[in-house]
Amino acid sequence: MKPILSANGINKVFNNGENVLKGISLEITPNSFTVLLGPSGCGKTTLLNILSGLLKPSSGKVFWGKQEITSCSPNQLADLKRTHIGNIFQNYLLLNNLTVRENIEIGMAPSSSSLPFNQLTKLLEIDHLLDKFPAQLSGGQQQRVAIARAVIKKPDLLFCDEATGALDEANSKKVVALLQDLKNTFGLTILFVTHNLQIAETADRVITLKDGLIEQDYMNRNPISSYDMKWG
Ligand SMILES: Nc1ncnc2c1ncn2[C@@H]1O[C@H](COP(=O)(O)OP(=O)(O)OP(=O)(O)O)[C@@H](O)[C@H]1O
Ligand SMILES: [Mg+2]
Repeated sequence: MKPILSANGINKVFNNGENVLKGISLEITPNSFTVLLGPSGCGKTTLLNILSGLLKPSSGKVFWGKQEITSCSPNQLADLKRTHIGNIFQNYLLLNNLTVRENIEIGMAPSSSSLPFNQLTKLLEIDHLLDKFPAQLSGGQQQRVAIARAVIKKPDLLFCDEATGALDEANSKKVVALLQDLKNTFGLTILFVTHNLQIAETADRVITLKDGLIEQDYMNRNPISSYDMKWG
């Protein structure tokens, strides 16, 4: 299967001289759920930001399909991101003066196809909240709205950085379960960053980072259901 994303020899040295990534190469295949795992400070967010076009590597190349994004102009990259990439962060980042419906509509990209709004909001169990404002929602509900906003444009790739980091156990399990449902229902491809070993057990594939390099990269033969995760 042709990769949806490939990275070759990604290096990142920050201005203070810290060499966080030391030559990372990987490929992501379509309709997969990959967890990127590693201890705090090992460079997960840095790598995710480089793969999703938010940060430039010091050297190395990133391709979305055949398109090399590391050599794009800022305008070209902004266009590509708008149509091809979805992002979900730990702290939701919803716009407080817009309703749930308006927050989701912001994620629509004019030039790309959309997922069916009603089916998506029903699946995420937010269809009864569309006229409310973010401040009227629980953390779990806000994160599910952020997921809807990120996927409504049917992104080629959905990047999630500690997407359950601010949630309690029940809501975290629900978010992971719903992301798996979205993958299965709409064929999405998901790269999920976490330091939670239980979430890694639900993934198709696990990549671990250590000392700026990929330490392990393996397929889960029998992923567990997100509802069977044991929180610790
Ligand atoms: N803009 C920056 N300037 C300088 N150093 C940075 C910058 N961003 C990150 N770092 C450093 O790079 C290293 C990796 O940071 P990163 O945020 O990628 O880690 P992480 O694996 O996502 O950690 P966590 O699990 O805590 O989110 C850290 O030592 C951090 O201090
Ligand atoms: Mg991080």
